[in-house]
Amino acid sequence: MEALTDDNLSVLACEARHIDLLVDIANKAYSDNYLHIWDDEGVLYLEKNFSKPVLASELADKNNCFFLVQNREKFVGFAKIVLCKSFGDYTADESLYVQRLYLRKAYCGLGIGAKLMMQFHQKALALHKKVVWLQAMPSTPSVSFYEKLGYTITHKGYIPFPHIKPAYRDLYDMVYKLE
Ligand SMILES: CC(C)(COP(=O)(O)OP(=O)(O)OC[C@H]1O[C@@H](n2cnc3c(N)ncnc32)[C@H](O)[C@@H]1OP(=O)(O)O)[C@@H](O)C(=O)NCCC(=O)NCCS
Repeated sequence: MEALTDDNLSVLACEARHIDLLVDIANKAYSDNYLHIWDDEGVLYLEKNFSKPVLASELADKNNCFFLVQNREKFVGFAKIVLCKSFGDYTADESLYVQRLYLRKAYCGLGIGAKLMMQFHQKALALHKKVVWLQAMPSTPSVSFYEKLGYTITHKGYIPFPHIKPAYRDLYDMVYKLE
C-alpha cells in the first residue's frame, strides 16, 4: 500500500452528487469491520443504515455532514457528524455528535482516524460547542482509540437493533469536553 502522508490524504465534504460514492464506501468500510457482530451477517443493518435512500435522506438534512476520506484517488473511509445533537445536560447547540467513522481495514492504524477526529474537534470549537460526543462498542478497539484521544465513558447501554449477537450488544456513550 502507498505511504500515507498529508499530501496523499484528503477529506471531501460529501454533497448530494457524491451519493453513489458514499453508498459504496459506507458499505465497504462497514462490511470490512463489522459483519461478524450480526447473526444475519449485517443484512438488515446495512439496509436500514447504508442503503441509497437512507443515506440520500440523511445527506439532505443540513444538520448532518458526511465526509469521504481519500488516499490519492482511492476512497478509504467515511465519517458522519451531526452538528447539533444534545448530550446529557448539554443542549443541541452546545454538542456535536460524531455518529460514524469507518475506515477500510487496510487503512486502519495509520493515523487517519486521529486526524479526522482532530478536524471534528476544530470544527466543534469554531461552532462554539462545549462537547463532542459519540457512541462506541467495548467489544471493538474503538473505545481505546477514543480514550487515547481524551474521551471518557459516561454511560453504558446497549445497541437497540435486532440481529446483534449478545457478545457485541454493549454500547458506551463517550464525551470529550472542549472547555
Ligand atoms: C477506530 C478507527 C476509526 C481508528 O482510526 P485509525 O486511523 O485506525 O486510528 P489511528 O491510527 O489514528 O490511531 C490513533 C491512536 O489510537 C490507537 N488505536 C488505533 N487502533 C487501535 C486499536 N485497534 N487498539 C488500540 N488502540 C488503537 C493507536 O495506537 C493510536 O495511538 P498512538 O497515537 O498512541 O499510536 C479505525 O480503526 C476504524 O475505522 N476501525 C473500524 C471501524 C470502527 O471501529 N469505527 C468506530 C466506530 S465507533
